[in-house]
Amino acid sequence: MKAKITVLPGDGIGPEVVTEGIKVLAAVAQKYGHTFEFTEGLAGGIAIDETGSPLPDDTLARCRASDAVLLGAVGGPKWSDPKAPVRPEQGLLGIRSGLDLFANIRPVKVYPALIGASTLKPEVVGAVDLVIVRELTGGLYFGKPQGQSGAAPHREGVDTMRYTEGEVARLMRVAFELARGRRGKVTSVDKANVLASSRLWRTVAHEVAAEYPDVEMEDVLVDACAMYLIRRPGDFDVIATENMFGDILSDEASMLAGSMGMLPSASLGAETRRVFESSSSLPTDGKPVGDSRPSAKAKQNPSGLDTTRFGLYEPIHGSAPDIAGQGIANPLATILSCAMLLRWSFGLHAEADAVERAVEDVLAAGYRCRDIMTPGGKLVGTRAMGDAVVVRIA
Ligand code: IPM
Ligand code: MG
Repeated sequence: MKAKITVLPGDGIGPEVVTEGIKVLAAVAQKYGHTFEFTEGLAGGIAIDETGSPLPDDTLARCRASDAVLLGAVGGPKWSDPKAPVRPEQGLLGIRSGLDLFANIRPVKVYPALIGASTLKPEVVGAVDLVIVRELTGGLYFGKPQGQSGAAPHREGVDTMRYTEGEVARLMRVAFELARGRRGKVTSVDKANVLASSRLWRTVAHEVAAEYPDVEMEDVLVDACAMYLIRRPGDFDVIATENMFGDILSDEASMLAGSMGMLPSASLGAETRRVFESSSSLPTDGKPVGDSRPSAKAKQNPSGLDTTRFGLYEPIHGSAPDIAGQGIANPLATILSCAMLLRWSFGLHAEADAVERAVEDVLAAGYRCRDIMTPGGKLVGTRAMGDAVVVRIA
């Protein structure tokens, strides 16, 4: 397969972790005979410094011209003055909405070797295998009106939580399709006892649920969900929720896995992408070649979601300015995001499995970055962790 990947390293530890992700993708390309072409773009604080805009037009154009996007992280104290006219985060939100990447998939998996890295009891986190499906281009992050007005002492700030039924329905369909390929349960999270937008969310969620009689569905209020994630996280399979609720719950859920440094994400749009050029046989039916073995596909992607959607892949952690430039950031969340890229945008399931297996092996072999250090672990930096994964792929 030949594919183009736009890389947006961003700020803080972004460039460091993204370098390791590229290394892993290059190792996959070499081993499996693919050609991945990487092109870099500016986004976030670095883009503000170099162009004045957190998302230059050129960056969006590069993303649109590629098959998938890999992003590091954006933001940092240098750009965080609340009075600043532009903020790095606007770049990230601009990419998400500009490319219509409405479904943010955040799997939370607990690796056996890391059970001790969580602050929660092993018997509680041992059972965790869940996915948060976060709505990414609507809700409180994007609703209008939004802004500040007035003068002291009468200043006001406003944000709006608004959803259309179409936005809720398409997000819920992604959640139900994913659940079909997993344990068959969707938890729809809202605040329907208070918010009108949540009551619409709940109504539409049930309408979509009727299309999936084989999938179990429950509603949970967001405050209760925050509690259940600590009390009985093993009961969740797929959690589907509004943009900001998903932002908050996914940081909380990351602590089940031991560290934010372990959690990857995929942001997918509706668009099924181009026919990939294959080095072996060209497709005849307009479908990508990818992993065309039917049995492998059925096993690895039993969900009804197609796996050639354009997507943006990023670790869920931030730019961690406190440790930037020291070579100690954990690159595994980015490397696992690359596995998601292979799986969800390129349909390369065997390759994605190989990356995920390599990560599991590295952890089982005792390699640890500082954030996931456990007694007796081998403490390594960003680069050595990436190398350890690459060795197990090549
Ligand atoms: C995330 C981050 C972003 C968000 C920030 C950096 C804008 O927290 O991806 O979870 O709030 O969506
Ligand atoms: Mg967040």
